[in-house]
Amino acid sequence: MAAFFSIGTFLILLLLASAARGQRLSHKYYSLSCPGLQPLVRDAVQQALRRDPSLGAGIVRLFFHDCFVNGCDASVLLDDTPSFAGEKNAPPNMNSLRGFELVDSIKARVEARCRATVSCADILALAARDSVALLGGPYWAVYLGRRDARTGSRQAAAANLPSPGAGFAALVAAFAAKGLTARDMIALSGAHTIGQARCSSFRQRIYGDRNVDASFAGVRRQTCPQQTEGGGSLAPLDAQSPAVFDNKYFQNLVARRGLLRSDQELLSGGPMDSVVWHYSVNQTAFFADFAAAMVRMGGIGALTGSRGEVRLNCRKWN
Ligand code: HEM
Ligand SMILES: *[C@@H]1O[C@H](CO)[C@@H](O)[C@H](O)[C@H]1NC(C)=O
Repeated sequence: MAAFFSIGTFLILLLLASAARGQRLSHKYYSLSCPGLQPLVRDAVQQALRRDPSLGAGIVRLFFHDCFVNGCDASVLLDDTPSFAGEKNAPPNMNSLRGFELVDSIKARVEARCRATVSCADILALAARDSVALLGGPYWAVYLGRRDARTGSRQAAAANLPSPGAGFAALVAAFAAKGLTARDMIALSGAHTIGQARCSSFRQRIYGDRNVDASFAGVRRQTCPQQTEGGGSLAPLDAQSPAVFDNKYFQNLVARRGLLRSDQELLSGGPMDSVVWHYSVNQTAFFADFAAAMVRMGGIGALTGSRGEVRLNCRKWN
């Protein structure tokens, strides 16, 4: 009787625990099912960044492009098939997103240790955090328990991802549509302290805009001709320290040296200008706001409970 009672109680507790887990993300989601997960991911990211530090930027951007399109559900990682037009070839992503091979290699290591347990969406959330931290930026605890989508949407990617030509109001609106504030948007744009952009993403800015430092535009024009078709060559989003996560991005904006029009638009002459000035002189404040905003972004539209699945291969649903 006593044994029956305790087994019954145990089962009920287990049910309650998994129901609770189904509702919300948790820092400890894998602490029993995959102990050692976080050091495993961090070591894999660290090894990859030692070979190519610029990959960290690719991973951070992948996480953003995942979360803004139907939530952080690894939909961006799905390959196209003859009958499925995925997000990888949506205009904002095409020929420009990178880091997929690194996600694959982390996933392979995780599968070897904990089979069919850890979602690709969570791996991306962890790898993005680790990339930022390893490049000198802030560290934050990642909520876990996202599940992977069984589909993606090229249309939603085209509609939800902001354009580099966007003005301040459009940027604020794109983030508000995801439940993020203007201040979150400014802090998160600080991710452009790492990584690079193609000439096609900033050509109009360096040839057309007025609020651009003349010598900065001159230097960028040397490798980004006005007439060329296609993407063209790459330039660092933060020329001062392209592989270091710091607050130089905001110092660039104050000097009218933002690479994208959407970067420079953060200084639009309105009341939010003071946030950019603040971050440009106080890296601690930027880091704190960036970390908090990444946690909020990482909670967008998460699939939990029995929705979605844990993909075995991040490039295709099971
Ligand atoms: C505010 C609106 C944003 C716009 C309009 C925007 C646009 C862009 C564009 C056009 C590029 C260059 C793509 C290319 O030419 O190949 C880029 C790169 C990048 N973006 Fe954003 N972005 C925004 C916000 C964000 C956010 C919120 C994050 C992350 C939190 C982010 C992270 C990155 C990173 C790390 C890169 C460099 C990628 C690499 O080197 O491969 N961006 N972004
Ligand atoms: C910088 O920002 C942090 C965090 O908001 C704050 O605690 C600190 O006092 C600020 N430092 C300066 C010099 O303003």
